[in-house]
Amino acid sequence: PTPARNVTVTGAGGQIGYALLFRIASGQLLGPDVPITLRLLEIPQGLNAAEGAALELHDGAFPLLRSVEVTDDATRAFEGVNVALLVGSRPRGPGMERADLLEANGRIFGPQGRALNAGAADDVRVLVVGNPANTNALIAAAHAPDVPRERFTAMTRLDHNRGVAQLAAHLETPVSSVAGLTIWGNHSATQYPDVFHATVDGRPVNDLVDETWLTQTFIPRVANRGSEIIRVRGGSSVASAANAALDHVFDWVNGTGDAWTSAAVASDGSYGVPDGLVCSFPVRSVDGHWRIVQGLEIDSFSRARIDASVAELIDERDAVRTLGLVPQP
Ligand code: NAI
Repeated sequence: PTPARNVTVTGAGGQIGYALLFRIASGQLLGPDVPITLRLLEIPQGLNAAEGAALELHDGAFPLLRSVEVTDDATRAFEGVNVALLVGSRPRGPGMERADLLEANGRIFGPQGRALNAGAADDVRVLVVGNPANTNALIAAAHAPDVPRERFTAMTRLDHNRGVAQLAAHLETPVSSVAGLTIWGNHSATQYPDVFHATVDGRPVNDLVDETWLTQTFIPRVANRGSEIIRVRGGSSVASAANAALDHVFDWVNGTGDAWTSAAVASDGSYGVPDGLVCSFPVRSVDGHWRIVQGLEIDSFSRARIDASVAELIDERDAVRTLGLVPQP
């Protein structure tokens, strides 16, 4: 029998947690044959919501779910963890300055990185969902020197899925016929959804869409879709974010084959992105590792947009360095 895997969800009492936990328990995170032990990490004021979710998980009688434990102790939560979904964070509130935002998250992701370093399983995989996701992943990785940095990733799969769906709808084609889309940069409005290598049923998307649609509609719509959801729904993206987190981890563990997707991973200098920045790239998952797709031609249109988003990531990195949340080089 397949051994059980330890999965930890932080912020498990929150909205994304509630949309995520039941699908994890049903086998959609790792696959239909993999038993799971779940640990739910919350802060004290979130414990009741997490405990309620744990009761309902019990009531789901999920065959794959071996146990559920709720805790506010990060050390306990990450002991032996194989997959850590870092959802709980301090998102930007009204009037909050960036330095305050980064500092509040440093106080969350620094200690969580240390706890992962101390107790995680050797094969741990970390996905940061909580915003600012890329820089939170950078902070956590900086506090986990014994964990290979490639294991710390941040989620741009929701942006990727949004792009695929927008393209498919525009071209009146099933989403399954779209390939080769990339989200570059930060999970923020500066992200660059790139269709220049994308195909629909093997035909270059470039031949199928005009530049006005691309620049006036597609790129801003994907990059600002989070605000659109808030405007229409009266609340942030929740179920689609949980769905993207499942896609990210499932592909990481089970592989992508030849197709590629988007994920924010530690840069190795590819495409001129400074080494170590947690930046969204085109990636394939091979043998359980994300590999940045190499050798794509980047024209000046794309280069300017990638550079702008990378500049924002550099700014965030420099700010957390100045705050002492990650070491100076
Ligand atoms: P939420 O506010 O409903 O839930 C967050 C939960 O995290 C709360 O229950 C809170 O008590 C908990 N929490 C806060 N600090 C914690 C800590 N130190 N340890 C453990 N738990 C902690 O928020 P929601 O809607 O679930 O969103 C969570 C995060 O995901 C937000 O930062 C949001 O901006 C981000 N997000 C990211 C997306 C992406 O594509 N990367 C997409 C959508 C949301």
